[in-house]
Amino acid sequence: MAREACGTLRIGDEGRMVTLAGWVHRVRDLGGITFVDLRDGSGLVQLVFRDIPEAHDLSLEDVIRIRGTVRRRESPNPKLPTGEIEVVVEELEMLSKSKPLPFPVDTDEPRASEETRLRYRFLDLRRERMQRNLHMRHKVSLAIRNYLSTQGFVEVETPYLTRSTPEGARDFLVPSRLEPGKFYALPQSPQLFKQTLVISGVERYFQIVRCFRDEDLRADRQPEFTQLDLEMAFLEDPDELFTVIEGLVVHVFREAIGVELEAPFPRISYAEAMLRYGSDKPDLRFGMEIVDVTELFRGCGFRVFAEAVERGEVVRALPVPGAAVKSRSELKRLEERAVELGLGGVAWAKFTLEGVSSPIAKFTSEELLRRAAEKAGAGERDLLLLAAGPAGTVAEALGTLRVELARELGLVPKGAWALCWIVDFPLFKLDDEEGRIISEHHPFTSPHPDDIPLLETDPLKVRARSYDLVINGVEIASGSIRIHRRDLQERIFKLLGLTEEEAREKFGFLLRALEYGAPPHGGIAFGLDRMVMMLAGESSIREVIAFPKTATGACPLTGAPAEVTEEQLRELHLRLES
Ligand code: AMO
Repeated sequence: MAREACGTLRIGDEGRMVTLAGWVHRVRDLGGITFVDLRDGSGLVQLVFRDIPEAHDLSLEDVIRIRGTVRRRESPNPKLPTGEIEVVVEELEMLSKSKPLPFPVDTDEPRASEETRLRYRFLDLRRERMQRNLHMRHKVSLAIRNYLSTQGFVEVETPYLTRSTPEGARDFLVPSRLEPGKFYALPQSPQLFKQTLVISGVERYFQIVRCFRDEDLRADRQPEFTQLDLEMAFLEDPDELFTVIEGLVVHVFREAIGVELEAPFPRISYAEAMLRYGSDKPDLRFGMEIVDVTELFRGCGFRVFAEAVERGEVVRALPVPGAAVKSRSELKRLEERAVELGLGGVAWAKFTLEGVSSPIAKFTSEELLRRAAEKAGAGERDLLLLAAGPAGTVAEALGTLRVELARELGLVPKGAWALCWIVDFPLFKLDDEEGRIISEHHPFTSPHPDDIPLLETDPLKVRARSYDLVINGVEIASGSIRIHRRDLQERIFKLLGLTEEEAREKFGFLLRALEYGAPPHGGIAFGLDRMVMMLAGESSIREVIAFPKTATGACPLTGAPAEVTEEQLRELHLRLES
């Protein structure tokens, strides 16, 4: 008899003989009678064994096949879809025994270290939560493919064995056996290929594609991760791309989690985001907007602030709702945290019914602090944090405190979704270590047409035609309008310190393609793992990747990276330095 799905049996099946197969999820051996929850991909069903001696030998995660009759349960379990029935087993066949488990799989909370979970990933993935995540990932990919197909996009695969692509990380290299001393690089993204594709006449390209970056790992970073990569020909106005992407994101949210997002998403300039939220990936689920109060404190009695203003630095205020109750020791911890974040310190002012209390009130005045609070929208029961210093440092530090305090105080609404576009990024930034300019996004990003005259004279002032999509404070996607003229591309390479020869050697094929009728174009890439992580309500992308790496880039399941034989090295013309 054909195998049926455990989770689909209902009261209407009462009296039927069924064949089921699956994993032993739970066992209750009561002596004369044994109850087993049997699990397959469709769910759970209760089995009843009576007078079957082998039933006493069943252990968790054994794989069995049974034949039995469906009957009404005496005490139904309303939590299970199959809870009204059970299957009285007549025949039991052991298909595969399981050893005792290193950790339980019948729970949503992992009860093992990450190392152990990954080593036994085949068990870890059996947990319902992980199965849910894998299904969510599939749903998201399917929704993406379906939606983009309706919009005329074509999925094209690009090579993994290729040349280095500049996305700012280190490359993973693959030695060539046939050309001794030469290496392929695994792509950090298909950036150059997708540009080449639109130049090749693929007007709307997309790909769900693996990217490889040898960088320090975090909860939202893996050495190999998946992008939804996309490019459009004849794209000159980012608004056209925003419309396509907003349609896509609305569709994906609807299909994956049944949430209706409102489009268009707000657009915020980089400069404004840094000023108001101290971050280029602002979390807009809550307020607590930072305000500039530099002018209020110019020439004030608090020397630290007055002198900072004199030096051309800034004073900014962060309102913290309901936090006037913070104790001295909590405020002390906040001050220490501010120092960790690179500030000289942070001044605070509490606003209560009794009045203003602040260690700097005696140097400034209550009136001044009240005016700062008013500007920041802070009132009674609130706390105001004030910091002075260079604009970038103050913005970032207050931005970090904003997010940390909102979380700590429970001010982030659950179930809320806040999406926004960040636009008008600077084209370049200063590389701290080398003191020269580098691309903020990548060197193929088009400068803002109005700012092209500033390229050589004031490069750090040049805005880029690039954009990020931010969801709940996480950078989900990033892209730009590209340069489609060879002369401008060469000018940018030169500004980035590449000689003509270096540019030709590294990006010769792009430069060549730009000479044969390249349409204006632009695109974007989503971090697919990050998007699925958020939709699945997880806080690490490792939870939505079937076989991820640990924080040190290792795979405990396979033992990669691993040593190779002398013979393999010899073939690749490599010798290890001992
Ligand atoms: P970018 O480098 O910003 O742009 O990458 C796009 C998106 O990919 C995700 N992401 C990562 N996810 C997991 N692990 C990582 N190590 C990792 N690195 C990046 C982020 C990010 O927003 N070629 C350009 C795109 C373009 O210009 O079209 C690019 O790769 O969510």
